[in-house]
Amino acid sequence: MKILVVGSGGREHALAWKLAQSPRATRVFVAPGNAGTATEPGCCNVTCSTVAEMLDFARSERIAFTVVGPEAPLAEGIVDAFRAADQRIFGPTRAAARLESSKDYAKAFMRRNGIPTADYATFESAAEAHHYIDSRPAPIVVKADGLAAGKGVVVASTKDEAHAAVDAMLLGGAMGQAGSRVVIEEFLVGEEASFIAMVDGRNVVALATSQDHKRLRDGDEGPNTGGMGAYSPAPVVTPRMHARVMREVIDPVVAGMAAAGTPYTGFLYAGLMIEGDRLNVLEFNCRLGDPETQPIMVRLKSDFITLVESALNGTLDKVEPQWDRRVALSVVMAAHGYPESPRKGDAITGLPDSASEDAHVFHAGTVNTGERIVTSGGRVLTVTALGDNVRLAQRRAYEVVDQIHFDGMQMRRDIGHRAANAARRS
Ligand code: AMP
Ligand code: GLY
Repeated sequence: MKILVVGSGGREHALAWKLAQSPRATRVFVAPGNAGTATEPGCCNVTCSTVAEMLDFARSERIAFTVVGPEAPLAEGIVDAFRAADQRIFGPTRAAARLESSKDYAKAFMRRNGIPTADYATFESAAEAHHYIDSRPAPIVVKADGLAAGKGVVVASTKDEAHAAVDAMLLGGAMGQAGSRVVIEEFLVGEEASFIAMVDGRNVVALATSQDHKRLRDGDEGPNTGGMGAYSPAPVVTPRMHARVMREVIDPVVAGMAAAGTPYTGFLYAGLMIEGDRLNVLEFNCRLGDPETQPIMVRLKSDFITLVESALNGTLDKVEPQWDRRVALSVVMAAHGYPESPRKGDAITGLPDSASEDAHVFHAGTVNTGERIVTSGGRVLTVTALGDNVRLAQRRAYEVVDQIHFDGMQMRRDIGHRAANAARRS
């Protein structure tokens, strides 16, 4: 069976790697892929970039199904286009993807469906936004309504910062069309977790929980990034909290989307904020997380083709994925200048020659020039390791990280610190 994966990041390398493990896979194509997916056994890159090219490719290669990594093609309607052409694809329609592509849509949906989330208001007028900020306490959070590649959120510690963010987005056009409307919301405290489920329109299978590290530097300092590391499982999602997330968040989303006439299919990612018994949704993504996918795929023991097929057939109620009991932990190695202006073209050395059972190097911003592998994007590699506990997974991941070199590389040395501290306390 031939499969197509759309995207070029570490998430897509991990997806392609896992799909290719299945005895049922003959070939996994990745469009456009990276230097890692180009040489991953069972995988190969294809140079399609538009939805129309991918659809042509899927038809001519008789692709059994397509899995979409990033949000942009989903928001553009890749699922609608494939379905209209009778090609199987796993992801939400353009209408359902609004849960991620419009923060105002997501907030209004949560309010309508009783899903716990921070208090908020939406504005297109800067004067009204300023007035609202003046009436609320700081810190306060200003979010561009549309897709902004992880750069659309300003957690303002003072009202001045919040006013400046509003001016930049609504008057200065800082986020383009995405910032022509802003959501302003209450600041929440607590610990974040990523809760990702597969949804077939009606049934849900929760994937293993995980936790991302969004800030660039150790100790959660520095600017926000797409994610500097992740691990699975996330101890903050206790079994009791897990049941609450299903009951108070995931099930109401699935029911609410079906009732709205836009049934949800695809990966559904709830970004949670947990503080003791307090549970809130920070955001929804209509896709898997990057880097969360990397530790999740490494822990998944079940055949992933079978899981995706169950989702496409509407039979997710009949499957139960099995997970490696070990902790998986991923360290992102990022390029010089990331996140503002990542440098390209730095040669990467020390990549392991072959995969080992407990460590995987997933590629993201890499390209093979024919002579060597060089950096070509902000997040370059995700080194992922398994260990019997978070400390051991950490040690193994950094062992591999320390073999790899490229000029200007940036990484955090403390991925997993929350779980490690929680384990030490208990
Ligand atoms: P989002 O893209 O909505 O997940 O926001 C990006 C990051 O900003 C989140 O991962 C949080 O770290 C932070 N954030 C977003 N909303 C809030 C909030 N209401 N309170 C505190 N932090 C937030
Ligand atoms: N790691 C966060 C995200 O994928 O949105």
